[in-house]
Amino acid sequence: MKLRLLVVAVLFAMGCGTESEQDSTPPDGESDSFVIAEDSKSDANGVQEGSYEAICVLNFANTASRDEIYDVLHRWPADGLWEARNGVDAEPGTADDVTFTTVEQVDDVDWVGFFSFRAMRNYAEENGLCPTLGEETVFEGEDALADEIARLSEEEIQKNFANDTLARRDAHAKAHGCVRANVTIDNSGLDPDERIGVFAENRQYPAWIRFSNGNPVIQNDTERDARGMAIKLMEVPGDKVLERHRQELTQDFLLINGPAFFVRTPEDYLEFTKNAFDGEALSFFFDLNPLEWNIRELTNALQILLAKPASPIMQYWSTTPYALGEGAAVKYTAKPCGDIDSGFPDDAPFDFMSQTLAERLAEGPECFDFMLQRQLDPAVMPIEDSTIAWDDSEFVKVATIDIEQQTFLSDEQVEFCENLSFNPWHTLPEHKPLGNINRTRRVVYDAISLMRHELNMAPRAEPTGHIVFD
Ligand code: HEM
Repeated sequence: MKLRLLVVAVLFAMGCGTESEQDSTPPDGESDSFVIAEDSKSDANGVQEGSYEAICVLNFANTASRDEIYDVLHRWPADGLWEARNGVDAEPGTADDVTFTTVEQVDDVDWVGFFSFRAMRNYAEENGLCPTLGEETVFEGEDALADEIARLSEEEIQKNFANDTLARRDAHAKAHGCVRANVTIDNSGLDPDERIGVFAENRQYPAWIRFSNGNPVIQNDTERDARGMAIKLMEVPGDKVLERHRQELTQDFLLINGPAFFVRTPEDYLEFTKNAFDGEALSFFFDLNPLEWNIRELTNALQILLAKPASPIMQYWSTTPYALGEGAAVKYTAKPCGDIDSGFPDDAPFDFMSQTLAERLAEGPECFDFMLQRQLDPAVMPIEDSTIAWDDSEFVKVATIDIEQQTFLSDEQVEFCENLSFNPWHTLPEHKPLGNINRTRRVVYDAISLMRHELNMAPRAEPTGHIVFD
């Protein structure tokens, strides 16, 4: 069964099949199933809910006219789809018409299977029914999931606060330090219509950068973990996206040390985060049945976790996409200007990431190239799946991040650092976060930041410039 699905999936991916082939193709079997079951974790076969293909098929199934349906599909699946869409009264345009919200519902229609899916996908692509560059698709139930993730995270913070002096972030809890930086824009690699937002002018922005470990728990830096680099530009004019942040002069970029994220959907993030709070983050990727493992997610996670950084001076990526104006999307990376040392020091102490950073910045400055890569093809560089890296798009340098020689570990600066809130939605509309994971973050980051500041009785204010604490 799996082998058969694999073969049809490969054919599907090749996009083969022409009108004349469709005519001579027998209808799909009545009970053929082509969509990955909802509870299946494997992504080796079939069409995945939320994927580019799934969005194309759903758009066709929900909006195609009767003539289009009968032109594109064989008579039997066309009958099935048309009848299913019209509801019990069999009349189009009445109150009981059905809108398909999952491809599994389309797959459940009699006689709709692999060949019908391929025909619907191809027609949708040729007729503008598939996502275009920078286009988002909002899925049913997202808001409720974001609320649920926020509620769970708040509970966890409350629980941990009972045994701690501080209410900490439930993600990226441990900071290695906040350092002063200057970000100098060089937009010469951008097209004129891409010179917008913070890339509009070749100017310098003062910035704060917070380096962190990803885990909810403060642990030894030699433990396998994601590493974060959060950049906050200041003196950025213009109204920002969030109501609460509208008049602030900050623009944030959040990056981690892998090119692709290890969670595909808000549902999966909820499952992942439940496991992470139980100290079992890795069990999200596995199942008793190896065919049900989250293979792509696991590969992405391993790339992040197997890195053994010698210091926070390493390469980081946004993993999720961001608008660059209308109808265009990009991802970001920050790459050290010089060589990257890797390998934990032999005698690595508990906080060696902040110690190595402190040693390096005591000796001299550090620098990163800040680059973006453009979304070139919405099918292979999807907006709604951040587990897929945009490997075929080259990075273009747009700024240099200079971190001057400095100290940053005074008690006052550590407290200042703890009280900062980095949020991808602290942004100009030109750089609006895109995709399901980013939409979830819009709800969660604000809720968590509000809560921990309240519990810590700390001011929740955006910085307006560099402060020298020592
Ligand atoms: C649904 C998905 C995600 C959720 C719910 C989530 C949640 C959170 C939360 C609650 C925080 C702490 C915020 C605060 O208290 O100020 C945080 C921090 C962070 N997240 Fe995420 N996150 C998600 C996805 C991502 C992704 C895709 C990245 C990739 C770049 C990322 C990178 C970071 C970084 C770097 C920080 C630390 C920011 C800092 O230094 O303050 N997160 N995340």
